[in-house]
Amino acid sequence: MENKSIGVEREHWGSRFGFVMAAAGSAIGLGNIWRFPYLAGDNGGGAFIIIYLIAAFLIGFTVMLCEFAIGRAGQLNAIGSFRKLAPGTPWWITGAFGVLAAFLILSFYGVVAGWTMAYVWMTVTGSLSGVPSDQLPGIFVGFITNPTQPIIWQAIFMVLTVGIVVAGIKGGIEKWSKILMPAIIVILFILMFRGLTLEGGFAGVSFILKPDFSQITGKVVLAALGQAFFSLSLGMGTMITYGSYLEKKENMPSSAATVIGLDTGIAVLAGFAIFPALFAVGLEPSQGAGLVFMVLPAVFDTLPLGMFFGTIFFILLAIAALTSAISILEVVVAFIKDEFNVARSFSAIVIGFIIFLVGVTASLSMGPWDHIVVPFPGSEAGLNLFDFYDEFSAKILLPIGGMLICLFTVWVWKPQNAFKEITNNGTLSFAWLPLFKFMAGIVAPIVILIVLLNGFGIFG
Ligand code: TRP
Repeated sequence: MENKSIGVEREHWGSRFGFVMAAAGSAIGLGNIWRFPYLAGDNGGGAFIIIYLIAAFLIGFTVMLCEFAIGRAGQLNAIGSFRKLAPGTPWWITGAFGVLAAFLILSFYGVVAGWTMAYVWMTVTGSLSGVPSDQLPGIFVGFITNPTQPIIWQAIFMVLTVGIVVAGIKGGIEKWSKILMPAIIVILFILMFRGLTLEGGFAGVSFILKPDFSQITGKVVLAALGQAFFSLSLGMGTMITYGSYLEKKENMPSSAATVIGLDTGIAVLAGFAIFPALFAVGLEPSQGAGLVFMVLPAVFDTLPLGMFFGTIFFILLAIAALTSAISILEVVVAFIKDEFNVARSFSAIVIGFIIFLVGVTASLSMGPWDHIVVPFPGSEAGLNLFDFYDEFSAKILLPIGGMLICLFTVWVWKPQNAFKEITNNGTLSFAWLPLFKFMAGIVAPIVILIVLLNGFGIFG
């Protein structure tokens, strides 16, 4: 008899280290090295970073632990786990939001990942060597507004993503993550030291370390919260899905803390690598989505073997993007595979192709389709499709998802079940449990709600 909910055939992670690396591989990606620095630059630097840290460690930790627990208890995808833990209730809709968010996020994520691959090519072929730093923004804009080239790179990236997901969970992800995460840290350190020793680089350090609290508005707090969800892969069911491949003996609180520590460390390191360099080459912090692509090539050029480092950096960035992209695609694939009994390979290919097509609209919206403008609260001029997919998911879908996940864990799923799951049936000591209950049941949902309303100027 086939019983998909028993989970006898469900794959599990090979080891605790493998799981932590896979979850960190999901969390660490373009969100840390591309999105975090440019959002910090757009939102006033140090003040944004402080709010971000609070959001990541307080709210992020709480939501991540809830997601792991729901997934491991449910042993199913993001929608199926809710159905199993609260049968006959509409809570599965939380998972359905996640599946929708996965489509939107991976569509523009694939576009940016494509840019990183194009920059690998440009650094290998030397076409960025010796280019004066004030011409880098023009090169970047010329490339992303091109109607065909970015789409070709995006297609290559999506083929790689689908290929890994087709191969299954255990196969390559664990191994790759173990090699790549340390490599990224080493390269970022080199870039940081180079940036700090460039003349004028110190202005970047004070931009980060001297928070100007007058910059903090509801919009900035919402951006920081959205970034915490995005960077930690939360609110969308990614960590529910990864949690569903967990063995019962795993220590989830300590895994969550490790993942958040690694993710945050890399984001801050990226900030220290980029802002000093930015000020040294005389660019503005508010360069928007192109920041990394406009600033770093100028830094590489000042290094011995600069373009070699440039190539390595963009390769690592592309691979970090890949270990995140597979985790986004896996949310949808696990759902289709668990619920409709469709082969993993078939669902990965079909879903990957649909997401690619949505991504094409995001890529075109940078150039040929930039006249298409979507109204969005907080933006007077409206957003192009690329920014709309990004902001709608990070600022609305993920926070709402995170809020529902917390409320569900404490108030709907029988609380004693949730806490049993988190403490491995009481065998694990988790001293913060009372605090966690309070955070998940009351503080996190209220804070998220206030931040959401406030960020849209509805109140506050
Ligand atoms: N966290 C990844 C990054 O920082 C992106 C990502 C993976 C993600 N899975 C997610 C974002 C789920 C939101 C939700 O690049």
